[in-house]
Amino acid sequence: MHEVVVAKDREAVAELAAGFIAKIAGRYEDSTFNLSLSGGRTPVLLYEKLAAEPLIEELPWKNTHIWWGDERVVGPDDPASNYRMARESLLERVPVPDGQIHRIRGELGAEEAASRYRDELLQNLGTQPRFNLCVLGVGADGHTASIFPEHFKKLKIGEPVAVTYGGVPEVERVTITFDLINACDQIAVLAQGKDKAEIMQRILMGDPTVPASHIEPIGGEERLHFFLDSEAASLLDKGG
Ligand code: 6PG
Repeated sequence: MHEVVVAKDREAVAELAAGFIAKIAGRYEDSTFNLSLSGGRTPVLLYEKLAAEPLIEELPWKNTHIWWGDERVVGPDDPASNYRMARESLLERVPVPDGQIHRIRGELGAEEAASRYRDELLQNLGTQPRFNLCVLGVGADGHTASIFPEHFKKLKIGEPVAVTYGGVPEVERVTITFDLINACDQIAVLAQGKDKAEIMQRILMGDPTVPASHIEPIGGEERLHFFLDSEAASLLDKGG
């Protein structure tokens, strides 16, 4: 069964999610920790907590590889860049070696960026790539990463990466697919705010029309962890 952690507010969600990430990361003190980051606004506080005392001392940054679940097809300094958000809230503050930061190169255009990211995944993680921990968000429309409702059924099976279009800002995107998401050892999904309440109810009831309902770790449901604030969880006791 998946885990649903409900915290009273955004601060508490970030605290609990950061503690969870540190716990998982601690398993890789003597090996390589492949961590995939979400974009959007929700994880900023989480990333800031990972980059501050006490957690900054606890994570094995030197053997951590940073990946992304998705990226807007923009340059690394664009305000819409998920890489820029992670750089400012986390990567500038922690000692992850530059060669271990696997940015999706949106400035190359969607197809070239996707192709290079796919190559980098296969070169580093093998032909069946998976992350040790994949952090995801959820849009009010039920998208996760950049897998949007209007086309998630068309994503090619067996492909770890795809090009999509949509979201806010409505631009081309490079996204990991459910093939890669569901192969991950652990998945943490964050959602906060009352605008996520209705979609979280639908996701946790398994509504198949919602992309994020298809986050189904092949290693078992116990590898899936939701971190919600009380607003995003407000409809869950009503049959969610
Ligand atoms: C993106 C994100 C996306 C995000 C959700 C939630 O590139 O937009 O990766 O999947 O997690 O849209 O965004 P908020 O956290 O801003 O609500």
